Amino acid sequence: MKEINLKKLYLEYFESLGHVIIPSAPLVPENDPSVLFNTAGMQPLIPYLMGEPHPFGKRLCDVQKCVRLTDLDSIGDKTHHTFFEMLGNWSLGDYFKNESILYSFNFLTKVLNIPIEKLAITVFAGDNLIPKDEVSAKRWEQLGIKKERIAYLGSEDNFWIAGDSGPCGGDTEIFYWRSPEEVPKIFDPKDDRWVEIWNNVFMEYFKEKNGQVHELKNKNVDTGMGVERTIAILEGKTDNYLTSIWQNALNTLLKITNLPYEGNEVSMRIILDHIRTAVFIAADEAGIKPSNTDQGYILRRLIRRAIRHARKLNIDINSDFEQQLAICFIKEYQDTYPELAKNQNIVLEVLKNEKEKFNKTLEKGLKVFEKLTFNNQQIDGETAFHLYDTYGFPIELTVEVAKEQNRTVDLEGFAQKFKEHQEKSRTASSGKFKGGLSGNSIIETKYHTATHLLNAALKKVIGEDVHQKGSNITTERLRFDFSCNHKLSEEEKKQVENLVNNWIKQDLPVEKLTMPKEEAIASGAECMFIEKYPDIVTVYQIGDISKELCGGPHVEKTGTLGTFKITKEEASSSGVRRIKAILSEE
Ligand code: ALA
Repeated sequence: MKEINLKKLYLEYFESLGHVIIPSAPLVPENDPSVLFNTAGMQPLIPYLMGEPHPFGKRLCDVQKCVRLTDLDSIGDKTHHTFFEMLGNWSLGDYFKNESILYSFNFLTKVLNIPIEKLAITVFAGDNLIPKDEVSAKRWEQLGIKKERIAYLGSEDNFWIAGDSGPCGGDTEIFYWRSPEEVPKIFDPKDDRWVEIWNNVFMEYFKEKNGQVHELKNKNVDTGMGVERTIAILEGKTDNYLTSIWQNALNTLLKITNLPYEGNEVSMRIILDHIRTAVFIAADEAGIKPSNTDQGYILRRLIRRAIRHARKLNIDINSDFEQQLAICFIKEYQDTYPELAKNQNIVLEVLKNEKEKFNKTLEKGLKVFEKLTFNNQQIDGETAFHLYDTYGFPIELTVEVAKEQNRTVDLEGFAQKFKEHQEKSRTASSGKFKGGLSGNSIIETKYHTATHLLNAALKKVIGEDVHQKGSNITTERLRFDFSCNHKLSEEEKKQVENLVNNWIKQDLPVEKLTMPKEEAIASGAECMFIEKYPDIVTVYQIGDISKELCGGPHVEKTGTLGTFKITKEEASSSGVRRIKAILSEE
């Protein structure tokens, strides 16, 4: 069965059950700067899971593009991917456990004709806050799943939340016996021949950042099924990369390398996985380019790792191998995701440029390597990490070159330095959840403050009911989405620019205040999703023209911002406009 059929079958099935098919949201979240990429189908739906009515109703389904980086180190095995598609169906305060389980069961056994004997189930064993989920277990039994194929597991396994805070709940997970061996009578969730294919989360709680859990307005259902795994099952493959999804790309890679898959599969899988993800990131409308921060950094890392493995397979790095592979993926997915064909040239350019940059880096790195390690029999951890961090020199390469020179590398020392660095970047990235805007460089800080000024100016020029719908900041520009039903006229844009520039000239103080959330709201402070904030919030006040809930950081006085200029004004979605603006020194 071709992958496109699974997606079609799934959407048609849920449509027949009253679900409205919604389009995949972009990979880079538009209204949620707290994460780099959408990691699940529910992510773009968070406001609706929290109670805001969805324009399409209470039953929704879709195929969502996702990128998850937690599994980066597992890439190279048979089942993990950094990019994947998630099939999802949602009930926003409509049906709950019994219907959700019935719908999943019928889809698997009646539409996909998966034999019930090959299925097993986990349900939530409960914890000190949430009771054991006997309703779900009973429902599965009613539908014909044997008791010994149902396992109760704790919150480590059967409680689902994206990150540390947000809508969440216990879940029931469906497993499939993916092995030619006989299916055991009793389900052992630790046996990895059982693979999870579908997760039905019963989202009835909200977890605050301080760990407190309270009930959501609605009892929701959020489900997620991985396309790649399900396709592998339907096609009878134990290696996801041998399914139809990857066929063209894999054949192209085999031709390029002139090597067999067996014995080279780890590098081949890494190349395929990373190029596919890079294609999707680069094609996203957010216009991500390789860089050293945020999404751009991930894109850079993926491309470089793919190239590193290409070198391992002796691929001619100066050939257009990465572009050939990218074209296979664009062809495979362009019907579902039109941005791939639309942005094909950009994608190919990104890959090529980054490859060329990396090749130069490697050359430079090799020279530095010679200097740094001269006379040293063993390359210490600090040096190896310096090569890695500053010159993008992968540790495997350091080991390889060292070996050629009869030297060794202190891998433990390297691992230690690496860990320290990871801890540092984890602390930095957890700052992202503090209320919003990403990045902390001086220019990004300036853009944060400019964003508040822009919001205030729009309220003055367009009207008080203008509200922020999304924000994204890079070192190059700010992007601001706001509620507004019309295209801004030249006059309006000019007025907005003039207001912001006047406020900058007035060198207004930017004050940081801490207060209870309720008080902040009562005082009229602007904010996006009030439920997302902790009980005590930070409010930034600029003179008497702006007051917003925000995690910062901000400049101390507006006078340092430079000159504000709107570079683009366009529609973002229905009733939402988008402004891109820059700050310059003039
Ligand atoms: N949000 C749930 C998951 O990603 C369905 O597994």
